[in-house]
Amino acid sequence: MIPENKSDLVRDLHRVWHPCSQHKDYETTPPLLVERAKGIYLFDRQGNRYMDVIASWWVNLFGHNHPRLNSALTQQLKKMAHVMFAGITHQPAIDLADSLVRLSPVGLDKVFFSDNGSTAVEVALKMSLQYWQEKGENQKIRYAYLKGGYHGETLGALSVCGLDIFRKKFEKVLADHLPVQGPDCFRCPYGLQRETCNAECFEPMEKALSDNSDTLAGVIIEPLVQGAAGMKMYPPVYLIKLQSACESLGIHMIFDEIAVAFGRTGSLFVCGEHDLRPTFLCLSKGITSGYLPLAATLTSDEIYSAFYGKHQKLFIHSHSYSANPLACAVANETLSLLTENQFLNTLQPKIAALKECGKQFDGLNGEFRQIGMISAFELVKKNKECFSSEKRVGYHIFLEGLKRGLFMRPLGDVVYFIPPLIITEAEIATMLNTAHECMNAVLNH
Ligand SMILES: Cc1ncc(COP(=O)(O)O)c(C=O)c1O
Repeated sequence: MIPENKSDLVRDLHRVWHPCSQHKDYETTPPLLVERAKGIYLFDRQGNRYMDVIASWWVNLFGHNHPRLNSALTQQLKKMAHVMFAGITHQPAIDLADSLVRLSPVGLDKVFFSDNGSTAVEVALKMSLQYWQEKGENQKIRYAYLKGGYHGETLGALSVCGLDIFRKKFEKVLADHLPVQGPDCFRCPYGLQRETCNAECFEPMEKALSDNSDTLAGVIIEPLVQGAAGMKMYPPVYLIKLQSACESLGIHMIFDEIAVAFGRTGSLFVCGEHDLRPTFLCLSKGITSGYLPLAATLTSDEIYSAFYGKHQKLFIHSHSYSANPLACAVANETLSLLTENQFLNTLQPKIAALKECGKQFDGLNGEFRQIGMISAFELVKKNKECFSSEKRVGYHIFLEGLKRGLFMRPLGDVVYFIPPLIITEAEIATMLNTAHECMNAVLNH
């Protein structure tokens, strides 16, 4: 029994198991007890303010407590909170499917809703697999994925995850897919620069795809930014080469834009911006601007038609909260905000400000990298050597950030910034200046 007079944080420590958290750390630095949030700021009970520079795990686009998103939610709430989505449909979902198809590249015609990013990926993997079965290509059962790739943490998604930290302990039960060495621009083995190279590092992927095309159902990739790997960024030419290989070898291309879509790179979708045509497009995170869980897997009429007709062909992936009407209503309003008043154009000066302010990291060992509104600084020792993980450099930078009103969550020693898109240029300067101060405080300690 927990004594009744214990504080909420003590009760949290006793009762709650947080994701991706070493709870022993919470004994010395408890989680922030956030009571309210507005714009890009979180407020704790004492009224202390923290800049949410990672947009609450990369989901928030328009700031917390946005009047139009609040209103879209409450208007829908007055009509209906939830209904099942098999045998029933509703206007918010129909509108959303329509908008997603209209705004995404030509050829993505059908929208399958679910409720989180990992599931959007599971759906794409399962659809691809079943498609090949329906076509009588029963040997096409594997997926190529990048070492360093991340697509969620359910067992299916983990089986195409290329990061040991997430998969190693579960390795024995994961399906046998095909890991491929991907781009590593900071430590390019070809000695090239991402701004000018021709993705020479596509070579291993080209070989893996052509050697295994008979058994490969598809390839899954995070376009342009490998988020969980430490915001590793690579040029679009890699994706152009991937598309051409997949098309000629008959392999599905699954774009996981869960982290990068909806303005993060400066455009609505990476595939749209670079004229790419994935077979499947997985979306989530920003789709409701961080209000409610929702995800979508888009695909073509060609894929859809393989499931059409006989009852036995149906695609079975049912979730209780698929296409939740509240979430769809907020997503519709999010898309309106993204597409009205040239919103994406208003990001350009912010993107320039990030670039300019990022120059201050030149004096430290590491790499400042940026694509659109996503930026990161990878801290290293001389010769690009990593710090020992025992030192927990990133964690100490996080602690320094808390003292200075910045809520960061470094990935190892990569300090990254994915703020809500509404951040101002002045706030961008504060964000990067303060992070720089935190890094100096830790490195000079
Ligand atoms: C690229 C990518 N795919 C999939 C996911 C999984 O999404 P979720 O956490 O909603 O399951 C994430 C989450 O960080 C992601 O960044």
